Amino acid sequence: MNTPQRVEHAMTDKGYVPLYATGIVEQPWESYTPEDHETWSILYRRQRDLLKDRACREFLVAQDAMGMGEALIPRFDVLIEVLQKATGWTLIGVEGLLPELDFFEHLANRRFPVTWWIRRPEQIDYIAEPDLFHDLFGHVPLLMNPVFADYMAAYGRGGVKAHAVGPDALVNLTRLYWYTVEFGLIREPEGLRIYGAGIVSSAGESKYCLESAAPNRIGFDLKRIMRTRYRIDSYQKTYFVIDDFAQLFDATRPDFRPYYSELAPLESFPAGSVQAADRVFNRGTGEGWLSGGDV
Ligand code: PHE
Ligand code: FE
Repeated sequence: MNTPQRVEHAMTDKGYVPLYATGIVEQPWESYTPEDHETWSILYRRQRDLLKDRACREFLVAQDAMGMGEALIPRFDVLIEVLQKATGWTLIGVEGLLPELDFFEHLANRRFPVTWWIRRPEQIDYIAEPDLFHDLFGHVPLLMNPVFADYMAAYGRGGVKAHAVGPDALVNLTRLYWYTVEFGLIREPEGLRIYGAGIVSSAGESKYCLESAAPNRIGFDLKRIMRTRYRIDSYQKTYFVIDDFAQLFDATRPDFRPYYSELAPLESFPAGSVQAADRVFNRGTGEGWLSGGDV
């Protein structure tokens, strides 16, 4: 097998763009340096501390059950044993972002692609592309949850379908992934909590999404999400809030093809807009859903 590569943004004739990798690689665990393990430890400790009263119960319980530790970068083969028994999911090592259809097909077959390399020390607070910390710490724990595990596989099958429908359908479907899997919030008895991988792997956004007065927090609405643009270069302007994972699974059960046709002629909503039908859970509503008692 060739040596696994690290594939990320690069300067090309089209500017600074993300590059796509296709190779499936064995995690080269022996090649991690003491500095790599230290990066994992720093990030792991910082996020666990921030997340203990910010992440949803399901995430924290699942992460503990998986046996990810803070001392060393986890070994995929050890995690896979636990994960496969729990929900039938497995992990595959990849060098970077995959082409869309490859990604969907892996998910549909319960294989989650995890970037094998970890960010450099100077990228601790921000990196543009998914690395091992984002993929493993952020995405993998919830694959232990049976309802979320089924949702992710269904999303993969939906992706293969949307790919056949065309680019507009893919835009709609990708927004759903963005606003749930990456940046979703959930209502728990104690208040709003985080489940999105893009948030749980970011120190800044873990605080911002719950505590800042700036973003909108809007009740989950499938077609509303499919029409809403998103930001990739800053914290989100809007977060969508689910009641529980069953709501997500049930709402996404129908065939989306009629939805794609219905949405095709409609304008998209700007990332930060509030629509008349939105159920807004912002700070200051007195609903008591935010943590910290400073509503
Ligand atoms: N039901 C969707 C479809 O027919 C598939 C899907 C399931 C998409 C779950 C996203 C999440 O396309
Ligand atoms: Fe991600």
